[in-house]
Amino acid sequence: MNILVTGGAGYIGSHTLVELLAAGHGAVCVDDLSNSSEEAVILAGKIAGKDIPFYKADIRDRSALDKIFTENHIDCVIHFAGFKAVGESMIKPWEYYENNLMGTLTLTDVMRRHGCKRLIFSSTSTVYGDPEILPIREDAPKGNCANAYARTKWFQEEILRDLCGADLRNGDPDPWGIVILRYFNPIGAHPSGLIGEDPRGIPNGLMPYITQVAVGRLEKLTVFGSDYDTPDGTGIRDYIHVCDLASGHVAVLSALKAGSVIDYNLGTGRGYTVLEIVRAFEAANGIEIPYVFGPRRPGDIAAYWSDPSKIDHELGWKAEKGLEDMCRDSWNWQKKNPKGYGR
Ligand code: NAD
Ligand code: WQD
Repeated sequence: MNILVTGGAGYIGSHTLVELLAAGHGAVCVDDLSNSSEEAVILAGKIAGKDIPFYKADIRDRSALDKIFTENHIDCVIHFAGFKAVGESMIKPWEYYENNLMGTLTLTDVMRRHGCKRLIFSSTSTVYGDPEILPIREDAPKGNCANAYARTKWFQEEILRDLCGADLRNGDPDPWGIVILRYFNPIGAHPSGLIGEDPRGIPNGLMPYITQVAVGRLEKLTVFGSDYDTPDGTGIRDYIHVCDLASGHVAVLSALKAGSVIDYNLGTGRGYTVLEIVRAFEAANGIEIPYVFGPRRPGDIAAYWSDPSKIDHELGWKAEKGLEDMCRDSWNWQKKNPKGYGR
């Protein structure tokens, strides 16, 4: 297949470009570089041994998207482009709704005008809110979101279901075929150390914070909360290696079926506490990570992890890399690129 990857210069998008090309697919990338560097696309192509056509454009720019669909035959779109910072979304909700919702509305309109109605959408485990039952299955309650970012993702999911539902109601001979993927906590980097996560400013995420402490850019980690109802009092998450996450996108290409919207969790099904992550990082890399305990971070949930069995049962796909791989590869990327892509 020839696949348009929106947001392909970003953390998950660049790793997905590598996996798509390795699986024999073609890829075209569009990104406005608002949170990334074109270098990531060039390096993804280098890892895969292929050039990746790159368009620097905002997906809200209809004419720019039209040009891409006119110049390339696109079978399917993997849609990563959007803003993703939870805290920022509560300070700038309008910007988050505008970019994420208008991006998806413009993209899907241009797609249907060009007869391309196969889409894989990046959603998030945060649409499950504070779960009543662990592990979280795809049929758990959704939409009770704790922040504006997660709500933009939930609304985008609903828009996509409405588009497909309308095609079915209207008897459209070529209805939308959509897969919604809900990611748990992606960490790690490509084992080459050429591409990885490069957050702007001080990282919000646990693993990039740890690697920046390890490389000396930050002094120590603050562990947010030590009194949760978990075995060691710190928060539990389901961390998944970004290369596994990327390969999950290749696996679901076969699940894109006209007239259906299918959702899958992408996680490992195993939760780790913050302190377990710190210890695993120290053990994998032989580096001590100084930390202090701080108060709970507002909006944080004590514990959540996925039930990843639906995608395994239906498509025979599951995450393969363990926590040691995630810690080693995260550090390999950071130590080889202390300043990330140097943006
Ligand atoms: P990222 O910020 O590294 O990548 C997103 C990319 O989209 C960036 O390169 C950015 O420049 C681009 N972009 C943003 N708005 C755009 C626009 N209007 N037009 C064109 N390009 C635009 O983020 P990521 O971690 O790679 O996440 C990819 C997707 O997965 C996002 O939609 C994110 O919400 C979702 N997601 C991420 C995580 C995570 O923990 N990283 C978890 C769940 C879901
Ligand atoms: C993990 C754990 C923190 C930093 C968010 C979004 C999610 C996804 C990823 C997009 C928590 C603790 C963290 C630190 C800490 N993004 N922590 N000190 O909050 O689970 O998920 O980002 O969709 O949707 O909600 O990830 O990596 O920020 O935190 O103690 O400096 O590490 O409290 O328990 P989170 P995270």
